[in-house]
Amino acid sequence: MADMTTDVLIIGTGPAGSATAALLSTYGIENMAVNRYRWLANSPRAHITNQRTMEVLRDLGPEVEAEAYMHATEQDLMGTNVFCESLTGEELGRIQTWGTHPLSRAEHELSSPSKMNDLPQTFMEPLLFKTACARGTQARMSCEYQSHEADGDGVTTTILDRLTNKTFTVRSKYLIGADGGNSTVADHIGVPIEGKMGVAGSINLLFKADLSAHVAHRPSVLYWVMQPGSNVGGIGMGVVRMIRPWNEWMVIWGYDIDGERPELTDDEAKKIIRDLVGDPALEIEMQAISYWTVNDAYATEMSKGRVFIMGDAAHRHPPSNGLGSNTSIQDAFNLAWKLAAVLKGQAGEALLDTYNAERVPVAKQIVTRANQSIGEFGPIFEALGLIGHTDPDVMQANMDKRCDSTPEADAQRAALRDAIAFKKYEFDAHGVEMNQRYRSDAVVSDGSREPAFAQDAELHYQPTTWPGARIPHVWLYDASGQKHSTLDLTNGGFALLTGLSGKAWADAAVSVADTLGIKMSAHVIGPRQDLVDHTGDWARAREVSDAGCVLVRPDHHVAWRNDAAADDPQRELMRVLSAVLQKGTAS
Ligand code: FDA
Repeated sequence: MADMTTDVLIIGTGPAGSATAALLSTYGIENMAVNRYRWLANSPRAHITNQRTMEVLRDLGPEVEAEAYMHATEQDLMGTNVFCESLTGEELGRIQTWGTHPLSRAEHELSSPSKMNDLPQTFMEPLLFKTACARGTQARMSCEYQSHEADGDGVTTTILDRLTNKTFTVRSKYLIGADGGNSTVADHIGVPIEGKMGVAGSINLLFKADLSAHVAHRPSVLYWVMQPGSNVGGIGMGVVRMIRPWNEWMVIWGYDIDGERPELTDDEAKKIIRDLVGDPALEIEMQAISYWTVNDAYATEMSKGRVFIMGDAAHRHPPSNGLGSNTSIQDAFNLAWKLAAVLKGQAGEALLDTYNAERVPVAKQIVTRANQSIGEFGPIFEALGLIGHTDPDVMQANMDKRCDSTPEADAQRAALRDAIAFKKYEFDAHGVEMNQRYRSDAVVSDGSREPAFAQDAELHYQPTTWPGARIPHVWLYDASGQKHSTLDLTNGGFALLTGLSGKAWADAAVSVADTLGIKMSAHVIGPRQDLVDHTGDWARAREVSDAGCVLVRPDHHVAWRNDAAADDPQRELMRVLSAVLQKGTAS
């Protein structure tokens, strides 16, 4: 007999665990979250928060989204990434980033009701965790997962209470390992992990210093400083990252992973910081020094029976592109509604298998992209003449050559320009963030071919209602003229969107939802209806006729669409939803 019971036990209260807890509690599912530490993130690791993640927060409620914006540094201040010799020294170039280029800004605005921003993990985690606990999550801090045993009906997990040094057991129907990059849960279920851990060593130096004089005129979250010779045998690149504008910072510095891990003193850390800033007298308040490794690995399965892994437990990669916490929260958005549907008896257990089918490709995609982005600094080093040299004087002289008025220097300047501009694949990769199209049994094909990407799929988001894709965002208007995003229509359930000629679909949706006992809203979009397409944007985006319909899942992805009216819309919807919800299988 276990000491406690719950429906879903979540190990970890990082972005993945806290988001899952918040979503499950919002859906009315009993859950418990445990964390081996007494509190949440003690350092602001993740910060770049993309639109898709903000859409999850929006789905949790306008107050959650609003609080995130309140704590975040706004998108405008994320500005340009600067490459320089020091913050006070010569600038080598810059690139407009994170949707702040006017063209990219337009794409961002057209794509989502939500805005990208810079929200340090030290704000994101408390927001998600507070939302979870306020809505019903039972949280146990200073409690460490030790082991679990799964059987046909559930999972019994043994946890060590670190305050009493006693173990207790929790019986749950499902167990989620959201326990980070060194996941014990992933080890215990033995999911295959492809790739390599520990490919490079990094040090975070967290500090306070007023750097406004050097940065406020060129706002950015990341300043890349090239100082040949400043680290042993390396290129000498360090990153100065804004935490709060412009007086809280983190320097990210490398160490040789094949050697002994350094133990920096505060004075050594301050020297690195002062060198990168270029001010030997800079007043610094050191806050923390921590060490982490760059990983290049992902799980090729994210579940085994009743046990799931998510977040860094499943995808382990460097911070490039700012994808870690974002993807962790998006994993949660994918799994939570499925767990809720199964636990409420609305879906067959096979629905849970689609988590693997839908999220493993994303894990692979982001681990590959993040590591590729590191490699794409190569052309910048190449253009600066840093590759193949170890003598700092030679390296500096090579960098300086770009200022000559020779054809070689002209070519060097062009190469540097191109290399910096190419970093848009890391710093403005809207497609990487937004283009996920799911293929699984929780998506029903309408027989159409997947639309090809008209532009680079990593750089540009392409809206489509093709089943599996996220529903395109457009604004619709209610009778009082208030605007609502198409993404707002799911509100934790399914949504069916149709036109005035497709009213039969809406009537059928109401009746099928009743029969299946699921939450589903039906929206006839047109003049004198609850929602009006004043701009015509929905008519242009829906890719079905006015008499057709688009069926959207609780996680905003299109479950199915039909181009036209059907003879028996009720039968069609019943067929489709039974397939999506895997109703044919035991629940
Ligand atoms: P995370 O590691 O955050 O949380 C794991 C949780 O499990 C913790 O609560 C921990 O205490 C708990 N735990 C572990 N073992 C346990 C056990 N045995 N028992 C109980 N509890 C246990 N991402 C991003 O999206 N944008 C960005 O800009 C950046 N930037 C960035 C910069 C730097 C320098 C780093 C190092 C990382 C980033 N990231 C990022 C990545 C981001 O920090 C990371 O992907 C997320 O924290 C992952 O969230 P998880 O919840 O999966 O794990």
